[in-house]
Amino acid sequence: MTKPAITLPLLFILLTLIDISSCASTVFNVVSFGAKPDGATDSTAAFLKAWQGACASAASATVVVPTGTFLLKAVTFRGPCKSRLQFQVTGTVVAPTDYRAFGNSGSWILFANVNKISLVGGTFDARASGFWSCRKSGQNCPPGVRSISFNSVNDVIISGVKSMNSQVTHVTVNRCTNVVIRNVRLVAPGNSPNTDGFDIQSSTGITLTGSTIQTGDDCVAIGPGTRNFLISKLACGPGHGVSIGSLGKELKEDGVENVTVSSSVFTGTQNGVRIKSWARPSTGFVKNVFFQDLIMKNVENPIIIDQNYCPSHQGCPTEPSGVKISQVTYKNIQGTSATQQAMKLMCSKSNPCTGITLQDIKLTFNKVTPATSLCSNALGTSLGVIQPTSCLNR
Ligand SMILES: *[C@@H]1O[C@H](CO)[C@@H](O)[C@H](O)[C@H]1NC(C)=O
Repeated sequence: MTKPAITLPLLFILLTLIDISSCASTVFNVVSFGAKPDGATDSTAAFLKAWQGACASAASATVVVPTGTFLLKAVTFRGPCKSRLQFQVTGTVVAPTDYRAFGNSGSWILFANVNKISLVGGTFDARASGFWSCRKSGQNCPPGVRSISFNSVNDVIISGVKSMNSQVTHVTVNRCTNVVIRNVRLVAPGNSPNTDGFDIQSSTGITLTGSTIQTGDDCVAIGPGTRNFLISKLACGPGHGVSIGSLGKELKEDGVENVTVSSSVFTGTQNGVRIKSWARPSTGFVKNVFFQDLIMKNVENPIIIDQNYCPSHQGCPTEPSGVKISQVTYKNIQGTSATQQAMKLMCSKSNPCTGITLQDIKLTFNKVTPATSLCSNALGTSLGVIQPTSCLNR
Protein backbone atom coordinates (compact mmCIF):
# COMPACT_ATOMS: atom_id res chain seq x y z
CA MET A 1 0.00 0.00 0.00
CA THR A 2 1.66 3.24 -1.09
CA LYS A 3 -1.30 5.50 -0.71
CA PRO A 4 -0.03 9.08 -0.37
CA ALA A 5 -1.13 10.26 3.00
CA ILE A 6 -0.94 13.53 4.87
CA THR A 7 0.49 12.43 8.18
CA LEU A 8 -0.72 14.05 11.36
CA PRO A 9 2.54 15.99 12.00
CA LEU A 10 2.49 17.28 8.41
CA LEU A 11 -1.13 18.30 8.74
CA PHE A 12 -0.24 20.11 11.94
CA ILE A 13 2.59 22.04 10.22
CA LEU A 14 0.29 22.98 7.34
CA LEU A 15 -2.41 24.19 9.69
CA THR A 16 0.14 26.18 11.68
CA LEU A 17 1.38 27.90 8.52
CA ILE A 18 -2.15 28.75 7.46
CA ASP A 19 -2.81 30.02 10.96
CA ILE A 20 0.25 32.30 10.98
CA SER A 21 -0.46 33.74 7.53
CA SER A 22 -4.17 34.35 8.08
CA CYS A 23 -4.15 35.78 11.61
CA ALA A 24 -1.16 38.05 11.47
CA SER A 25 -1.45 39.75 14.78
CA THR A 26 -0.25 43.28 15.42
CA VAL A 27 2.90 43.27 17.51
CA PHE A 28 3.57 45.62 20.42
CA ASN A 29 7.16 44.99 21.46
CA VAL A 30 7.87 46.44 24.92
CA VAL A 31 11.37 47.50 23.79
CA SER A 32 9.77 49.76 21.13
CA PHE A 33 8.00 51.49 24.00
CA GLY A 34 11.22 52.06 25.95
CA ALA A 35 11.69 48.88 28.00
CA LYS A 36 15.35 48.08 28.68
CA PRO A 37 16.51 44.44 28.76
CA ASP A 38 19.21 45.26 31.33
CA GLY A 39 17.49 43.95 34.46
CA ALA A 40 18.01 47.30 36.19
CA THR A 41 15.97 50.00 34.42
CA ASP A 42 12.35 50.22 35.52
CA SER A 43 10.35 49.07 32.47
CA THR A 44 6.88 49.31 34.05
CA ALA A 45 5.74 52.35 32.04
CA ALA A 46 6.92 50.78 28.77
CA PHE A 47 5.06 47.53 29.49
CA LEU A 48 1.91 49.53 30.25
CA LYS A 49 2.17 51.52 27.00
CA ALA A 50 2.63 48.31 24.99
CA TRP A 51 -0.39 46.84 26.77
CA GLN A 52 -2.54 49.91 26.12
CA GLY A 53 -1.61 49.81 22.42
CA ALA A 54 -2.46 46.12 22.16
CA CYS A 55 -5.64 46.55 24.16
CA ALA A 56 -6.90 49.31 21.85
CA SER A 57 -6.03 47.36 18.70
CA ALA A 58 -9.02 46.36 16.59
CA ALA A 59 -7.11 43.36 15.22
CA SER A 60 -5.82 40.60 17.46
CA ALA A 61 -2.64 41.89 19.11
CA THR A 62 0.49 40.51 20.74
CA VAL A 63 2.54 42.16 23.45
CA VAL A 64 6.07 40.86 22.93
CA VAL A 65 8.68 40.72 25.68
CA PRO A 66 11.88 39.68 23.90
CA THR A 67 15.07 38.10 25.23
CA GLY A 68 16.70 39.92 28.13
CA THR A 69 15.85 40.73 31.72
CA PHE A 70 13.21 43.36 32.42
CA LEU A 71 12.59 45.02 35.77
CA LEU A 72 8.88 45.39 36.43
CA LYS A 73 7.21 46.98 39.46
CA ALA A 74 3.62 46.29 40.54
CA VAL A 75 1.45 46.64 37.43
CA THR A 76 -2.16 46.05 36.37
CA PHE A 77 -2.95 45.10 32.79
CA ARG A 78 -6.57 46.10 32.64
CA GLY A 79 -9.31 45.44 30.09
CA PRO A 80 -11.73 45.32 28.51
CA CYS A 81 -9.73 45.17 25.29
CA LYS A 82 -10.96 45.33 21.71
CA SER A 83 -9.82 41.88 20.58
CA ARG A 84 -7.98 38.72 21.50
CA LEU A 85 -4.63 39.46 23.15
CA GLN A 86 -1.49 37.49 23.45
CA PHE A 87 1.24 38.26 25.97
CA GLN A 88 4.30 36.51 24.61
CA VAL A 89 7.41 36.43 26.75
CA THR A 90 10.78 35.09 25.67
CA GLY A 91 12.87 36.86 28.29
CA THR A 92 12.84 37.10 32.06
CA VAL A 93 10.76 39.55 34.05
CA VAL A 94 12.08 40.38 37.52
CA ALA A 95 10.57 42.22 40.48
CA PRO A 96 12.38 44.84 42.59
CA THR A 97 14.50 43.08 45.21
CA ASP A 98 13.33 45.58 47.82
CA TYR A 99 10.01 44.04 48.86
CA ARG A 100 8.91 47.33 50.44
CA ALA A 101 8.50 48.68 46.87
CA PHE A 102 5.17 46.83 46.64
CA GLY A 103 3.46 48.46 49.61
CA ASN A 104 -0.01 46.99 49.96
CA SER A 105 -0.59 46.37 46.24
CA GLY A 106 -1.47 42.70 46.79
CA SER A 107 -0.24 41.70 43.35
CA TRP A 108 2.92 42.07 41.33
CA ILE A 109 1.46 41.42 37.85
CA LEU A 110 -2.33 41.59 37.62
CA PHE A 111 -4.55 40.95 34.61
CA ALA A 112 -8.03 42.33 35.29
CA ASN A 113 -11.32 42.43 33.39
CA VAL A 114 -9.92 41.05 30.14
CA ASN A 115 -11.48 38.48 27.85
CA LYS A 116 -9.55 36.15 25.58
CA ILE A 117 -5.96 36.44 26.72
CA SER A 118 -3.00 34.09 26.40
CA LEU A 119 0.11 34.39 28.52
CA VAL A 120 2.77 32.39 26.74
CA GLY A 121 6.35 31.65 27.78
CA GLY A 122 8.79 33.57 29.88
CA THR A 123 10.24 33.46 33.35
CA PHE A 124 8.80 35.62 36.12
CA ASP A 125 11.16 35.90 39.07
CA ALA A 126 9.78 37.80 42.07
CA ARG A 127 13.16 37.47 43.85
CA ALA A 128 11.48 37.19 47.25
CA SER A 129 14.30 35.82 49.40
CA GLY A 130 14.56 39.13 51.33
CA PHE A 131 10.82 39.04 51.95
CA TRP A 132 10.94 35.45 53.25
CA SER A 133 13.81 36.38 55.59
CA CYS A 134 11.71 39.24 56.94
CA ARG A 135 8.80 36.83 57.53
CA LYS A 136 10.95 34.17 59.12
CA SER A 137 12.64 36.61 61.50
CA GLY A 138 9.22 37.63 62.84
CA GLN A 139 9.66 41.30 61.93
CA ASN A 140 6.80 43.53 60.90
CA CYS A 141 6.71 42.81 57.15
CA PRO A 142 4.30 43.89 54.41
CA PRO A 143 1.61 41.31 53.56
CA GLY A 144 3.38 40.22 50.37
CA VAL A 145 2.26 40.11 46.75
CA ARG A 146 1.02 37.32 44.51
CA SER A 147 3.25 37.07 41.46
CA ILE A 148 0.71 36.68 38.62
CA SER A 149 -3.02 37.22 39.17
CA PHE A 150 -6.04 36.91 36.94
CA ASN A 151 -9.14 38.73 38.21
CA SER A 152 -12.44 38.56 36.29
CA VAL A 153 -10.82 37.22 33.14
CA ASN A 154 -12.60 34.88 30.73
CA ASP A 155 -11.01 32.57 28.16
CA VAL A 156 -7.46 32.43 29.44
CA ILE A 157 -4.55 30.33 28.25
CA ILE A 158 -1.40 30.18 30.40
CA SER A 159 1.24 28.15 28.63
CA GLY A 160 4.96 27.52 29.02
CA VAL A 161 5.29 30.05 31.83
CA LYS A 162 7.80 29.72 34.67
CA SER A 163 7.29 31.56 37.96
CA MET A 164 10.11 31.63 40.49
CA ASN A 165 10.56 32.84 44.05
CA SER A 166 7.14 34.39 44.60
CA GLN A 167 6.62 36.42 47.79
CA VAL A 168 3.38 34.56 48.50
CA THR A 169 1.23 32.74 45.88
CA HIS A 170 2.75 32.23 42.42
CA VAL A 171 -0.48 32.39 40.37
CA THR A 172 -4.03 33.27 41.44
CA VAL A 173 -7.22 32.80 39.45
CA ASN A 174 -10.18 34.69 40.87
CA ARG A 175 -13.67 35.11 39.30
CA CYS A 176 -12.56 33.66 35.96
CA THR A 177 -14.16 31.25 33.49
CA ASN A 178 -12.65 28.94 30.92
CA VAL A 179 -8.99 28.84 31.94
CA VAL A 180 -6.46 26.47 30.36
CA ILE A 181 -3.09 26.14 32.08
CA ARG A 182 -0.47 23.86 30.57
CA ASN A 183 3.24 23.24 30.76
CA VAL A 184 3.80 25.65 33.62
CA ARG A 185 6.59 25.51 36.23
CA LEU A 186 6.24 27.17 39.62
CA VAL A 187 9.40 27.05 41.70
CA ALA A 188 10.32 28.30 45.19
CA PRO A 189 12.28 26.69 48.05
CA GLY A 190 10.42 24.04 50.06
CA ASN A 191 10.86 26.15 53.22
CA SER A 192 9.61 29.46 51.75
CA PRO A 193 6.55 30.59 53.75
CA ASN A 194 3.06 30.72 52.15
CA THR A 195 4.30 30.28 48.60
CA ASP A 196 1.22 28.46 47.22
CA GLY A 197 1.54 27.40 43.58
CA PHE A 198 -1.96 28.07 42.26
CA ASP A 199 -4.78 29.63 44.28
CA ILE A 200 -8.09 29.17 42.47
CA GLN A 201 -11.42 30.55 43.64
CA SER A 202 -14.85 31.71 42.42
CA SER A 203 -13.97 30.32 39.00
CA THR A 204 -15.52 27.81 36.60
CA GLY A 205 -13.99 25.62 33.92
CA ILE A 206 -10.29 25.33 34.68
CA THR A 207 -7.85 22.82 33.23
CA LEU A 208 -4.36 22.45 34.66
CA THR A 209 -2.19 19.93 32.87
CA GLY A 210 1.42 18.92 32.34
CA SER A 211 2.82 21.18 35.03
CA THR A 212 5.47 21.04 37.74
CA ILE A 213 5.13 22.75 41.10
CA GLN A 214 7.96 22.79 43.63
CA THR A 215 7.16 25.24 46.38
CA GLY A 216 6.79 25.97 50.10
CA ASP A 217 3.01 25.70 50.53
CA ASP A 218 0.06 24.13 48.66
CA CYS A 219 0.88 23.14 45.08
CA VAL A 220 -2.75 23.93 44.26
CA ALA A 221 -5.24 25.48 46.71
CA ILE A 222 -8.86 25.23 45.61
CA GLY A 223 -11.05 27.81 47.30
CA PRO A 224 -14.78 28.55 47.60
CA GLY A 225 -16.75 28.86 44.36
CA THR A 226 -14.49 26.63 42.25
CA ARG A 227 -16.43 24.51 39.74
CA ASN A 228 -15.36 22.09 37.01
CA PHE A 229 -11.62 21.98 37.67
CA LEU A 230 -9.54 19.26 36.01
CA ILE A 231 -5.97 18.68 37.12
CA SER A 232 -3.86 16.10 35.32
CA LYS A 233 -0.20 15.24 34.83
CA LEU A 234 0.90 17.37 37.75
CA ALA A 235 4.25 16.82 39.45
CA CYS A 236 3.97 18.29 42.96
CA GLY A 237 6.76 18.48 45.53
CA PRO A 238 8.22 19.85 47.58
CA GLY A 239 5.03 21.51 48.80
CA HIS A 240 1.85 20.83 50.74
CA GLY A 241 0.01 18.93 47.98
CA VAL A 242 -3.34 19.64 46.35
CA SER A 243 -5.81 21.09 48.82
CA ILE A 244 -9.51 21.73 48.52
CA GLY A 245 -9.68 24.43 51.17
CA SER A 246 -9.40 25.86 53.55
CA LEU A 247 -13.17 26.11 53.29
CA GLY A 248 -15.80 27.23 55.75
CA LYS A 249 -13.99 30.15 57.26
CA GLU A 250 -17.05 32.28 56.51
CA LEU A 251 -20.57 31.50 57.61
CA LYS A 252 -22.01 32.22 54.17
CA GLU A 253 -19.70 30.67 51.63
CA ASP A 254 -19.90 29.21 48.14
CA GLY A 255 -19.12 25.52 47.60
CA VAL A 256 -16.66 23.52 45.51
CA GLU A 257 -18.03 21.17 42.86
CA ASN A 258 -16.61 18.84 40.19
CA VAL A 259 -12.90 18.63 40.86
CA THR A 260 -10.75 15.90 39.32
CA VAL A 261 -7.09 15.27 40.11
CA SER A 262 -5.65 12.48 37.97
CA SER A 263 -2.40 10.99 36.64
CA SER A 264 -0.22 12.98 39.02
CA VAL A 265 2.80 12.37 41.22
CA PHE A 266 3.43 13.79 44.70
CA THR A 267 7.02 13.68 45.93
CA GLY A 268 8.01 14.40 49.54
CA THR A 269 4.97 16.58 50.11
CA GLN A 270 3.18 17.31 53.39
CA ASN A 271 -0.13 16.12 51.88
CA GLY A 272 -1.18 14.30 48.77
CA VAL A 273 -4.84 15.11 48.21
CA ARG A 274 -6.48 17.03 51.02
CA ILE A 275 -9.90 18.45 51.79
CA LYS A 276 -9.72 20.91 54.65
CA SER A 277 -12.36 22.98 56.43
CA TRP A 278 -12.47 25.20 59.47
CA ALA A 279 -14.25 23.94 62.58
CA ARG A 280 -16.91 26.64 62.21
CA PRO A 281 -20.50 26.84 61.03
CA SER A 282 -20.75 27.46 57.27
CA THR A 283 -22.98 27.02 54.23
CA GLY A 284 -20.01 25.71 52.21
CA PHE A 285 -19.87 22.29 50.57
CA VAL A 286 -17.67 19.99 48.53
CA LYS A 287 -19.23 17.56 46.05
CA ASN A 288 -18.28 15.38 43.11
CA VAL A 289 -14.55 15.02 43.54
CA PHE A 290 -12.39 12.39 41.85
CA PHE A 291 -8.85 11.63 42.92
CA GLN A 292 -7.52 8.94 40.62
CA ASP A 293 -4.33 7.36 39.27
CA LEU A 294 -2.05 9.10 41.74
CA ILE A 295 1.42 8.13 42.89
CA MET A 296 2.61 9.13 46.37
CA LYS A 297 6.33 9.10 47.10
CA ASN A 298 7.16 9.58 50.77
CA VAL A 299 4.13 11.81 51.42
CA GLU A 300 3.22 12.67 55.03
CA ASN A 301 -0.57 12.52 54.57
CA PRO A 302 -1.31 10.91 51.18
CA ILE A 303 -5.11 10.89 51.68
CA ILE A 304 -6.60 13.34 54.16
CA ILE A 305 -9.87 15.02 55.01
CA ASP A 306 -9.51 17.43 57.92
CA GLN A 307 -12.67 19.18 59.01
CA ASN A 308 -11.22 20.25 62.37
CA TYR A 309 -8.94 23.02 61.12
CA CYS A 310 -8.47 25.65 63.80
CA PRO A 311 -5.01 27.16 63.69
CA SER A 312 -3.58 27.94 67.13
CA HIS A 313 -7.00 26.96 68.50
CA GLN A 314 -8.11 30.56 68.13
CA GLY A 315 -11.21 32.15 66.60
CA CYS A 316 -12.93 28.83 66.00
CA PRO A 317 -16.09 28.11 67.93
CA THR A 318 -16.34 24.71 69.50
CA GLU A 319 -18.94 23.70 66.89
CA PRO A 320 -18.16 21.14 64.19
CA SER A 321 -17.62 22.25 60.58
CA GLY A 322 -20.73 23.18 58.62
CA VAL A 323 -19.07 22.25 55.32
CA LYS A 324 -20.87 19.27 53.77
CA ILE A 325 -18.57 16.85 51.92
CA SER A 326 -20.16 14.31 49.58
CA GLN A 327 -19.37 12.09 46.57
CA VAL A 328 -15.59 11.91 46.86
CA THR A 329 -13.84 9.06 45.05
CA TYR A 330 -10.28 7.88 45.67
CA LYS A 331 -9.28 5.40 42.96
CA ASN A 332 -5.93 3.77 42.19
CA ILE A 333 -3.75 5.67 44.63
CA GLN A 334 -0.43 3.97 45.28
CA GLY A 335 2.92 4.59 46.86
CA THR A 336 4.60 5.36 50.15
CA SER A 337 3.52 7.33 53.21
CA ALA A 338 6.10 9.14 55.33
CA THR A 339 3.90 8.66 58.40
CA GLN A 340 2.15 5.51 59.59
CA GLN A 341 -1.32 7.03 59.26
CA ALA A 342 -1.54 7.04 55.46
CA MET A 343 -5.29 7.66 55.27
CA LYS A 344 -7.16 10.08 57.51
CA LEU A 345 -10.81 10.89 56.90
CA MET A 346 -11.78 13.18 59.78
CA CYS A 347 -15.21 14.55 58.95
CA SER A 348 -17.63 16.85 60.68
CA LYS A 349 -19.76 15.47 63.50
CA SER A 350 -22.80 17.53 62.45
CA ASN A 351 -22.25 16.99 58.69
CA PRO A 352 -20.67 13.56 58.16
CA CYS A 353 -18.94 12.94 54.83
CA THR A 354 -21.19 10.82 52.60
CA GLY A 355 -20.67 8.91 49.38
CA ILE A 356 -16.94 8.41 49.89
CA THR A 357 -15.61 5.69 47.56
CA LEU A 358 -12.27 3.98 48.06
CA GLN A 359 -11.09 1.77 45.20
CA ASP A 360 -7.71 0.11 44.69
CA ILE A 361 -5.65 1.93 47.27
CA LYS A 362 -2.16 0.69 48.08
CA LEU A 363 -0.19 2.88 50.46
CA THR A 364 2.71 1.50 52.48
CA PHE A 365 4.63 2.94 55.44
CA ASN A 366 7.79 0.85 55.74
CA LYS A 367 8.83 -2.78 55.44
CA VAL A 368 8.24 -3.54 59.14
CA THR A 369 5.19 -1.47 60.09
CA PRO A 370 2.06 -1.45 57.97
CA ALA A 371 0.25 1.82 57.28
CA THR A 372 -2.96 2.57 59.17
CA SER A 373 -6.15 4.50 58.51
CA LEU A 374 -8.31 6.64 60.74
CA CYS A 375 -11.90 7.74 60.10
CA SER A 376 -14.50 9.70 61.94
CA ASN A 377 -17.97 10.45 60.58
CA ALA A 378 -16.92 9.16 57.15
CA LEU A 379 -19.56 7.15 55.29
CA GLY A 380 -19.13 5.29 52.03
CA THR A 381 -18.04 2.13 50.26
CA SER A 382 -14.84 0.32 49.33
CA LEU A 383 -14.05 -1.61 46.16
CA GLY A 384 -11.03 -3.76 45.31
CA VAL A 385 -7.94 -3.94 47.47
CA ILE A 386 -7.69 -1.23 50.13
CA GLN A 387 -4.41 -0.91 52.00
CA PRO A 388 -4.39 0.36 54.72
CA THR A 389 -7.71 -1.27 55.55
CA SER A 390 -10.72 0.91 54.96
CA CYS A 391 -12.15 2.58 58.03
CA LEU A 392 -15.30 3.90 56.34
CA ASN A 393 -18.70 3.36 57.90
CA ARG A 394 -21.52 2.30 55.65
C1 LIG B 1 -20.80 19.01 37.60
O1 LIG B 1 -20.67 17.83 36.82
C2 LIG B 1 -21.93 17.23 36.54
C3 LIG B 1 -21.65 15.90 35.87
O2 LIG B 1 -20.71 16.03 34.83
C4 LIG B 1 -22.76 18.17 35.69
O3 LIG B 1 -24.01 17.60 35.41
C5 LIG B 1 -22.94 19.48 36.45
O4 LIG B 1 -23.61 20.42 35.64
C6 LIG B 1 -21.60 20.06 36.87
N1 LIG B 1 -21.81 21.23 37.74
C7 LIG B 1 -21.60 22.46 37.33
C8 LIG B 1 -21.82 23.52 38.35
O5 LIG B 1 -21.24 22.75 36.21
